[in-house]
Amino acid sequence: MYADRVRQPSLLDKVMTAAEAAALIEDGMTVGMSGFTRAGEAKAVPLALAERARQAPLSISLMTGASLGNDLDKQLTEAGVLARRMPFQVDATLRKAINDGRVMFIDQHLSETVEQLRNHQLKKPDIAVIEAVAITEQGHIVPTTSVGNSASFAIFAERVIVEINLAHNPNLQGLHDIYIPTYRPTRTPIPLTRVDDRIGSTAIPIPAEKIVAIVVNDQPDSPSTVLPPDVETQAIADHLIAFFQREVDAGRMSNSLGPLQAGIGSIANAVMCGLIHSPFENLSMYSEVLQDSTFDLFDAGKLAFASGSSITLSARRNADVFGNLERYKERLVLRPQEISNHPEVVRRLGIIGINTALEFDLYGNVNSTHVGGTRMMNGIGGSGDFARNAHLAIFVTKSIAKGGAVSSVVPMVSHVDHSEHDVDILVTEQGLADLRGLAPRERARAVIDNCVHPDFRGPLGDYFERACARGGHTPHILREALQWHINLEETGRMLAG
Ligand code: COA
Repeated sequence: MYADRVRQPSLLDKVMTAAEAAALIEDGMTVGMSGFTRAGEAKAVPLALAERARQAPLSISLMTGASLGNDLDKQLTEAGVLARRMPFQVDATLRKAINDGRVMFIDQHLSETVEQLRNHQLKKPDIAVIEAVAITEQGHIVPTTSVGNSASFAIFAERVIVEINLAHNPNLQGLHDIYIPTYRPTRTPIPLTRVDDRIGSTAIPIPAEKIVAIVVNDQPDSPSTVLPPDVETQAIADHLIAFFQREVDAGRMSNSLGPLQAGIGSIANAVMCGLIHSPFENLSMYSEVLQDSTFDLFDAGKLAFASGSSITLSARRNADVFGNLERYKERLVLRPQEISNHPEVVRRLGIIGINTALEFDLYGNVNSTHVGGTRMMNGIGGSGDFARNAHLAIFVTKSIAKGGAVSSVVPMVSHVDHSEHDVDILVTEQGLADLRGLAPRERARAVIDNCVHPDFRGPLGDYFERACARGGHTPHILREALQWHINLEETGRMLAG
């Protein structure tokens, strides 16, 4: 079954069981694994590693592209395998271990991990474990549903384990565009000037002799967990579409807008779905994860091209998209996350970045990661790569969370991922605040008038007025600035009553 997928004959005798391959991973190693937004992760070897650790304890530093599917982070955490983990995760069990201080989590901009490896700021992986759809005649690795950091992990690691996954459509070959930046200080510009440019190879070029093990597997990616659009997310989409229309009318954007980036999660996916019924045509995406909405937009005839680093679909869309890949393949490309999120490219292309905030404050500072300022949710992901360099840095969120106990718009964020200097537009189901060109006091007024839930608008306005009375360029009452968060911690609600 796998002989037509392992096309370099000298590698056929490297085929072994997952347990045998996992035995190559030693206690204390740094391991780079494929996997980005629950797509294209190596599946059998990590499970075998967890199994082994249950018998004989071992722990590793694990780097991936981003989150893993198939409960792998859960299994690895429960087996005590993870000493250190970077750069992103979404797993509830791992999240708890991180917040309990049992796993050291390094929350990184997704474009930066391999840059730091390249420059010896991080220890290079001893071994890489990469899921592949095939190994070419040259011994090069053809990734599956994500590229993530796989290419650089395979290039930097001394040894590579390849998991050939028969569950993936072999037609994925040709979808990827593997481009690795050259070394500084003689680095040349990344020659990518349009979202549909192909600038690299379709497989990861490594010497075949680095491949020390091949494991054959047929476990599919796990489906995405995004929830369907609801009334609030539809309202957020409507506000954004009206804003885009004003930008078009003002001559600042064409009717095809700019290349769109949409972050992970239900809200960003729902906002993109909202564009199906918008007046805009010939849209393009230059994003990292391509979710259901990308393919819904293709099917609606709205989207011309999508560039990403992974494809993560719900059970509803998975069989249809991957079973009929030829329908989309000419209009799709998957790149290393270093390139999909590269500041140079994001700035050059003029990306419209749409990411989700946990909370934002009066002045436009955004917290994407830390609940109550301390407890890690998922990580910053690519939101910073895009927000800092985007043509428009947009953050969306529902105005309240936890049944109304929490306002997502607060006097002062309890943790800052994106400072006021990075943020252009804030949107909740209540409305949209355009912060461009506004001073802090003007920004606060725009936020209060447009984004805050009615239950919190009066108290937030009152805080702002009293803060202004004290003066300051960015008025605050430090004794009160985090009082809503303290109330939440102590009483379960930000405001009494
Ligand atoms: N305080 C506390 N909890 C909050 C909150 C707030 N202000 N706002 C939302 N939440 C909770 C929700 O209640 C929900 O909790 P639950 O899982 O227990 O139900 C959870 O956060 C997720 O919120 P949801 O409304 O379902 O949004 P989402 O699925 O779109 O995720 C983020 C939102 C912010 C967690 C997610 O987008 C993220 O991790 N972002 C950071 C990374 C990023 O932006 N990457 C972009 C490039 S990939």
